[in-house]
Amino acid sequence: MIFEGDIHLGAKILTELIATEIKMNRSLTFLFLILIVVTGCNNRNSEAYNPVINEKTEEKKEIATKIHSGKKLMETQCYICHSPSAAEKEGRIGPPMIAIKAHYIDDETTKEVFTDAMWNFLKNPSKDRAKLRGAVRRFGVMPYQPFKKEEIVQIAEYIYDYQIDEPSWFKEHWENGHKKKRKPYKNNGKIAAGVSDMTVKDVGLSYALGTKKVLGKNLMGTIQAKGTLEALTFCNEKAYPLTDSMATQFNATIKRVSDKPRNPNNKANIEELEKIEYFKELIANDKKTEPVVEKKNGYNQFYYPITTNTMCLQCHGEPNEQITSEVLATINSLYPNDLAKGYKINQVRGIWSITFKDAKNE
Ligand code: HEC
Ligand code: HEC
Repeated sequence: MIFEGDIHLGAKILTELIATEIKMNRSLTFLFLILIVVTGCNNRNSEAYNPVINEKTEEKKEIATKIHSGKKLMETQCYICHSPSAAEKEGRIGPPMIAIKAHYIDDETTKEVFTDAMWNFLKNPSKDRAKLRGAVRRFGVMPYQPFKKEEIVQIAEYIYDYQIDEPSWFKEHWENGHKKKRKPYKNNGKIAAGVSDMTVKDVGLSYALGTKKVLGKNLMGTIQAKGTLEALTFCNEKAYPLTDSMATQFNATIKRVSDKPRNPNNKANIEELEKIEYFKELIANDKKTEPVVEKKNGYNQFYYPITTNTMCLQCHGEPNEQITSEVLATINSLYPNDLAKGYKINQVRGIWSITFKDAKNE
């Protein structure tokens, strides 16, 4: 919920915030916000997002009145890499979901066969079993992520039973982008109820977790392939540009800030410091942490804690214990004013501070 511990928020503002949040969640303005956020302010693809209910579709298609649970799961867990709004050539980190539907489902495929095929791939993604050869060449095999089977089943059901969002470039790409002529793909199914039930919090969280995944994947990859020392250079040179490029993709401002920054540019401001204290208290007391969202002049300001695990301590733990002397020397020379040492696991290392726009200001 809204950040209730914030003493600087007057009761009136708080009530207003709650009211706007509730209104926003339910209203069409919110749908519009989602559309803009997802399409990155780019209306080029908007026809792909507004399932136009013309007479033709109306006689044939069933329009779902209830939102399918798989829709939201897909939007929060898969769209970060399988977004239907990313451009064909640039900035994409994976194929749009329709490409997966097109490769996995033909006239003969039953829902069970599709669900099993998808789960079989996701529980252990590998090059041999990938059906999207072109995508593997371009993006590499999908990185393994510990998804829950029951959630994948719901996502598969949604993809199978519903028309899913597809980028406007996809049809052309499918028909003409390959040497061998392909059978037309199908995007059959019910039309999803119009209003997405992604709350502002869900949107912010999908940005934070998405950026974390991309950062984490790169960092882990570098540590494994080249060691901690080399990974340090990665953090030093690449962390910021990466966050920045994720921000461009989402049309948002994404910051990782800390009360004890390594890089002085990542120093938390007063409001962010308050949130850090708030999250620290929750985590110290084993309480569940929910994102905090505040509204400011038509912007959503989103906060979510970044906590430490064992891996982090190689660079953020005790000097000469978890941080080897070699790594320590490099840290100290790159960051003479480093404050980000001495952490233990499951502590608040900092927060995501993400700003994204409201529809009203577009
Ligand atoms: C971190 C990025 C990322 C996330 C998150 C992600 N994927 Fe993927 N996925 C990829 C990439 C890259 C490919 C293309 C390469 C490949 O096919 O392995 C892919 C391919 C796939 C494929 C096709 C595999 C094949 O080639 O046969 C399926 C199915 C799939 N993803 C399902 C999902 C589902 C469902 C979710 C959400 C629960 C999801 N993915 C989330 C990156 C991601
Ligand atoms: C290989 C060394 C290394 C590892 C491992 C590492 N970090 Fe860092 N971290 C750095 C460096 C270097 C910076 C400064 C990056 C910059 O200059 O922007 C940094 C910066 C950060 C920041 C931004 C705030 C600040 O202090 O400048 C956060 C938050 C952060 N790290 C969290 C983590 C977490 C959480 C983990 C574990 C999941 C982790 N780090 C693992 C080296 C590392």
